[in-house]
Amino acid sequence: MPERRSARLLPRAEQQLRANWREGRYRDGTPYAFTCPATPRYRHQWYWDSCFHAIAWRHFDPARARAELRTLLRAGRLDGFIPHTVFWDRPALWRRAPFYATPSLFGSMSTATIQTPLIALAWELVAAASPDEPGFGAEALTQLRLHYDWLERERDPDGDGLITIIHPDESGLDDSPKYDPVFGWMSHHRPGYFWLVERCRRLGFSSHAIIERYPEHVEDVLVNVFYALSLRSLSRLLGEGAQGVYTQRAERTERALVERCHDERTGLFFDLAGPEERPVAVSTWSALAPLALPGLPAELRHRLVTEHLLDRRRYRAHTGIPSVALEEPAFRPGWEVFRCWRGPSWMNSAWLLVPALRELGYDDEAARIVESLARAVEREGFREYYNPLTGEGLGARGFGFSTLLVDLLAPAPAG
Ligand code: GLC
Repeated sequence: MPERRSARLLPRAEQQLRANWREGRYRDGTPYAFTCPATPRYRHQWYWDSCFHAIAWRHFDPARARAELRTLLRAGRLDGFIPHTVFWDRPALWRRAPFYATPSLFGSMSTATIQTPLIALAWELVAAASPDEPGFGAEALTQLRLHYDWLERERDPDGDGLITIIHPDESGLDDSPKYDPVFGWMSHHRPGYFWLVERCRRLGFSSHAIIERYPEHVEDVLVNVFYALSLRSLSRLLGEGAQGVYTQRAERTERALVERCHDERTGLFFDLAGPEERPVAVSTWSALAPLALPGLPAELRHRLVTEHLLDRRRYRAHTGIPSVALEEPAFRPGWEVFRCWRGPSWMNSAWLLVPALRELGYDDEAARIVESLARAVEREGFREYYNPLTGEGLGARGFGFSTLLVDLLAPAPAG
């Protein structure tokens, strides 16, 4: 039965990605090619969406996976910064500016904020699926290094190995309840959000200046898990040994997650907020994300699984892995305007955590989660997210990164 379901869903995923594909030239002639997350709501290129799209594309059309990652890199600056959103079709006008963190109110091509930085991780996976272009893995090493050097230099001012976000959208988890105690009235769904964007703009989006001047910033667990995984990928792409710079940086970040973010009482990993680095004790899937780090002590990983992921009061749900623990007072399973990370199950949480479940021997549970998502997609299509209690599809239709399901259903394509 699962095999037959995969056979039906794989072509549907490919069809969805093809329908969302966009290519053309920016007005200065720069060529672009990427998958838009969903029309009409999300027409631009988003950093983490593009990485997830490329990971899914590599099952069907590695050339498109490569083109999407190259386009993302092309949107970056020479100093290594890569934006959260890129407006390839036409620059952002005044109507977009209040919602997107653009450097100026008029005419920006992209935002001045980042998004969870997993390009090196995606690059390595796509390179492994590119026997037709063996040079792909090595072609952008200088730019990838510049990007991860930028993150270290600009976003880790206290040098503890954990990078900081200055705006809730920078993780991709925009309205997650874990940001309520950090950003308060400036949270994603509150009116002060516009002021948060505006005051960053007035400081020229200088990360150091913002972090020094304002207390609303956070060392985010999910962001740092993807950062550590990506540093490891970069190190492998570079062919570094154990003493290599990026391996050592990855180890430092992993150590900091354990030493500074791990909460002994609950077994969860909490973000550290503001200059005094207060732990934010809200249980969201981000608090489980270190499960994806192979080097994490085994007992910490098993605790995350048995006490959280498989607990019916917390994350063991009808469909997928909920973005917030069911028992959290902020948990909301359904659709609410501008609120989507307060309970619904997204495909990327399963994509990150299910391989770790398999690796630790929880095969039946891993299969149950994948099956529940496959059933939801079969019935509801590729939706932005799903109600974890019923499987109902919610948010945008034809959503690109829900095709990550193929990576859970099919073994990695041959390299
Ligand atoms: C929403 C999501 C974010 C995603 C974007 C584009 O803002 O919260 O994670 O990157 O849409 O799909």
